[in-house]
Amino acid sequence: MIVAIDGPAAAGKGTLAKRLAEHLGFNHLDTGLIYRAVGVKHLETGLDAITVARALQPADLSHPGLRGEAAGRAASEVAAIPEVRQALLDFQRRFAQRPPGAVLDGRDIGTVVCPDADIKLFVTASLEKRAERRWKELIAKGETAIAERVLQDMRDRDARDAARDVAPMAPAADAVLIDTSELDADAAFAAALAIVHRKMTTKA
Ligand code: DC
Repeated sequence: MIVAIDGPAAAGKGTLAKRLAEHLGFNHLDTGLIYRAVGVKHLETGLDAITVARALQPADLSHPGLRGEAAGRAASEVAAIPEVRQALLDFQRRFAQRPPGAVLDGRDIGTVVCPDADIKLFVTASLEKRAERRWKELIAKGETAIAERVLQDMRDRDARDAARDVAPMAPAADAVLIDTSELDADAAFAAALAIVHRKMTTKA
């Protein structure tokens, strides 16, 4: 069984995917981390992003700098390159097929990576709410962050991820939408679980 979770940055899809995977006893892959690893290695080594993507090793996903804002921006930039996406496709699909099941979160899981996923969720929230969450996370980490700048960066990233020619961020036609603007992590998890249970009973 494959659960595909897509959506923009800071909508809560990562937390949700992790929790769902734990609950269901499934493997979890944060596909954004793969693009982040390519983006960071490309910046650090100066090698072109396609070469980096083709030679990516599991150890690259443990780089300590992958969660930061600069890594997110670099990821979004290299993610617009078709050959980079192609190079990372096999790894994601092989992961999805591993028993007993998998939850993958990203931007194109339900549309491109796993179009036959059993359950597809598109997790979103208003731009303002997402920027506010990201700003609070940065402040909590002790970083200096200007709210307007965080909002603008997020707007730019959304636009780049949704407007690219190959595998743009978009809900699959058969995805169920979860808007977390007014939901905390527990409420979002409860909503997702209700969808999963409904789908599992209708499939059985
Ligand atoms: O989910 P994230 O913020 O870690 O993702 C970082 C960037 O990687 C995101 O802005 C776009 C890209 N990405 C993608 O293009 N496709 C995916 N499946 C996952 C991430």
